[in-house]
Amino acid sequence: MKVALAFQNDVIADVYALALDGCLENCTVDNFDSFDSLTETVQKEPYACIVTDVSLQGQNFVETFKDPGFCALSIPIFVVGGEEGLAPPAGSKLKISALPKGVTIRDFAETIIEALSKDFTAKDFCKISVMTLLVKQKDLRFNLYVKLSDDKYIKVLNARDTFDEEQYKRFQEKKMDFLYLRRPDFFSLIDNLLGEVQKLYAADEALPVDASFSTTKAIFQTVHSAFETEGFTPEMRLLTEATINLAIKTVQKNPRLSELLQKMDADKSSFVGWHSTALSFLSCKLATMLGWNSEATFFKLSLASMLHDLSLPSDQLAELQTQEDLNESSLSPEDKELVRQHPRNSAKLISGFEEIPGEVSFIIEQHHERPEGNGFPAQADHKEISAISALFIITHDIVNTMFHSPPQNFDLQAFLTDREAKKTYSKGAFGQVFRTIMMKSSAET
Ligand SMILES: [Fe+2]
Ligand SMILES: [Fe+2]
Repeated sequence: MKVALAFQNDVIADVYALALDGCLENCTVDNFDSFDSLTETVQKEPYACIVTDVSLQGQNFVETFKDPGFCALSIPIFVVGGEEGLAPPAGSKLKISALPKGVTIRDFAETIIEALSKDFTAKDFCKISVMTLLVKQKDLRFNLYVKLSDDKYIKVLNARDTFDEEQYKRFQEKKMDFLYLRRPDFFSLIDNLLGEVQKLYAADEALPVDASFSTTKAIFQTVHSAFETEGFTPEMRLLTEATINLAIKTVQKNPRLSELLQKMDADKSSFVGWHSTALSFLSCKLATMLGWNSEATFFKLSLASMLHDLSLPSDQLAELQTQEDLNESSLSPEDKELVRQHPRNSAKLISGFEEIPGEVSFIIEQHHERPEGNGFPAQADHKEISAISALFIITHDIVNTMFHSPPQNFDLQAFLTDREAKKTYSKGAFGQVFRTIMMKSSAET
């Protein structure tokens, strides 16, 4: 059985999908990002119901009434936030129900379960991935079970136990990807997750730089450590978007560059975690100096930062930056190839984000290319590297140099003067980006 979901905010859509997937037997959830693609697909494939926001990409749900094929559908349709004005055209078979904006997960799922109860059964025990439990990382307020058979579950953790990284590893070693909890508890857990996501989206006050930086780094490390076994799951997407949101809000609050460098420097540990987080914050900050202040640009840079090295399994591999580093290293030919191809492999991860502009995959694919064409994997040179990739490459160089400097000893002006003397970033798009950073940053450091 398939359910079609169409929500403006795809992170919130993920939470709804998690809820339906967890409580409905054999349910797959498909996400749509426009009424056009929704209208086209639901007429071709069998869906049990449609759940949608009242408006999507600036269009109102009533736009779908223009399509006679859509108006002939006889499956239930739930419109969130569409309390008024949704009377279907005369003669159509549409069965539309409105759900209030801000509906709780419990009401949302129970309404859908009730409407579909003729066709399938809802579960008394709902499935939750151990990854989602790790994301919550709090004291459990409910019992957790493992499934022995369709009607037999045994308790493995009690309410008030803690689900931490150790518990996560324990279940992972036993190859148990899912645990079970009773339906009301499941709804509370998912409601909680939705509440946290909405809070992040609504917050108008950014966190202080150091708190924001260490939260982002901690979340990144959770994603990175689970990536190898879990892949890029909806929970990872939620977490990655949450970290991007934090980075953007922090930079928008406009801390001085010197403050940002100083606070970042205080928290240097694991290479991939630290340099991905530092890259996210600093690339957004340097973008503001170039006058690139749009949220879309911050989103691209921050997402590229979080994902660019995610396909590399260790700090040792991620620290190799240039073709020379690779030639001189004692890695096996297989590991060298893994490093050489990681920009392409990491770029593939963003296929999980449906609305991401292709530019993000270019930034990731090009992050080890160099202005002179001696980088990897494509040996692209300054003529093929865009301005936003140039900014990313320069920032990558800054954070990597900073990582290897003793604490509080990194001097951005000395770094820029050195690269200027060597004419490292003088050609193509690099020239303009580098000169602007050099000029503007001296006033702020
Ligand atoms: Fe890399
Ligand atoms: Fe990197």
